Parts: sequence; structure tokens; C-alpha cells
Amino acid sequence: MSLHLDDVTLTYPDGDGRLTALDAVGLDVPAGTLTAVVGPSGSGKSSLLAVAATLVTPDRGRVVVAGTDTGTLDRAGRAALRREHVGIVFQQPNLLPSLTAAEQLRVMAHLSGRRHGDRRARDLLGAVGLADCAERRPHQLSGGQRQRVNIARALMNDPAVLLVDEPTSALDHERGAAVLDLLVTLTRRRGTATVVVTHDRAHLHRADRTVTVRDGRLTAA
Ligand SMILES: Nc1ncnc2c1ncn2[C@@H]1O[C@H](COP(=O)(O)OP(=O)(O)OP(=O)(O)O)[C@@H](O)[C@H]1O
Ligand SMILES: [Mg+2]
Repeated sequence: MSLHLDDVTLTYPDGDGRLTALDAVGLDVPAGTLTAVVGPSGSGKSSLLAVAATLVTPDRGRVVVAGTDTGTLDRAGRAALRREHVGIVFQQPNLLPSLTAAEQLRVMAHLSGRRHGDRRARDLLGAVGLADCAERRPHQLSGGQRQRVNIARALMNDPAVLLVDEPTSALDHERGAAVLDLLVTLTRRRGTATVVVTHDRAHLHRADRTVTVRDGRLTAA
């Protein structure tokens, strides 16, 4: 199942006027492929992910997630779609300080009423190389390990669409490369349509495709 954006324009209120964050953006991400998004700070990369995640509704255009035209959904419908089909790793790390790594993942299964959350959490922590850290809380993990918990958590509900904002910004080059490799592997194995925002151009050869956002406009890199 894929992600499809067609002619998407998003504006934010800005003083007396509007600021155009996305300007007639089109993007196709087939299942099992990873698209990297680069571009200057403030160009619209996180806005692109927010629209794809249905967290923000565009002024114009179509966002199709896993075959559903999200314009046909109300608020509750979008929330359900996100819960079922979208995995999001935000630019700001947002693990809950009091929960262990395994618990961060189990909360997701609990929220969507899924069974077998314990086993799945264990498997996913293993898949991101953190089998030995399952009982640790965020302050007992390194920055890179926290990023990997974030990624594993986003995968808990087996999303069709995986959206990842700057997963390598807090990491050195080598660890950043390892996270990108992990995302590529998970994308192939699980058939997700994956979009990764990154500042580090050295990682781009790992992506199936790279697009550049500049002043809200998207071009193939
Ligand atoms: N909620 C908001 N309200 C108003 N303006 C916003 C909002 N969120 C983002 N913007 C503006 O929209 C533009 C695009 O922001 P966005 O966060 O998408 O950029 P970005 O490419 O992710 O930048 P960075 O690399 O710094 O994370 C910027 O000019 C930003 O100031
Ligand atoms: Mg951003």
C-alpha cells in the first residue's frame, strides 16, 4: 500500500496574510520503497510529513494513504486511519520518561486494542538491535538508542506508511548510516511506503529516490 500526494498546497496564518508552506506538491511513494526528503531549514519538509500523516489538512489537493482518499474522512476517521496505517517518528523525540522501552511500544498496541503486544514489542526491539535494552527507561539510553525505540514504536501497528523526520540529526555519521540502513531494511521487509527527512546528504544513496523541498516546492533531486 502506498502514499500519494497530488497538488497539495498548505498555508499557515502569518500576521495579516498566509505563509505558503507547501505549494502544489505531488509525491508518489510505492509500497516497499524509501523516499528521502532534503531541503533547507524552513522549506516545508516537516509540513510535508504532517500533511502525509493527516495531522494537518491541506488547503488544496489530495492525500491518499493506503488507498484511502483522506479528504473523504472526518476527524475521527483520520485518527483511525493514523492508528491503523501510519507510523510517525517526529523530529522532536517524544518518548514517555517513566516508561521502559518495551512499555513505550506496548502502549501503542494497547491504544489500538491489539493483542499480542508483548511479543510484538519484543520482536521489534530485537529488529532495531535493542533486545537487551527492553527494560531501560529513556534516560538510560543513548540518543541513537532512543531514536531506534522511536522507530520501533512507529512500527508497532505495522503501518502501511512510515514517516520519519530527521532520524539522524542527533547521531554521528556512522550511527546515522546504521539508522538509515535499518529503515531501508524495514521498508523492504514490511513493504511500507517510507518517507525520511534527512539533512545528511551522505545517506542519500541508500534511498530509492530523493526529492528536494525549497520554499514549499518539491523537485526531484
Ligand atoms: N504551525 C505553524 N504555524 C505557522 N507557520 C508554521 C507552522 N509550522 C511551520 N511553519 C512555517 O512553515 C514553513 C515550513 O516549516 P517546516 O517545519 O515544514 O520546515 P522544515 O523544512 O521541516 O524545517 P527544519 O529543517 O528546520 O525542520 C516555515 O516557514 C515555518 O516557519
Ligand atoms: Mg522540520
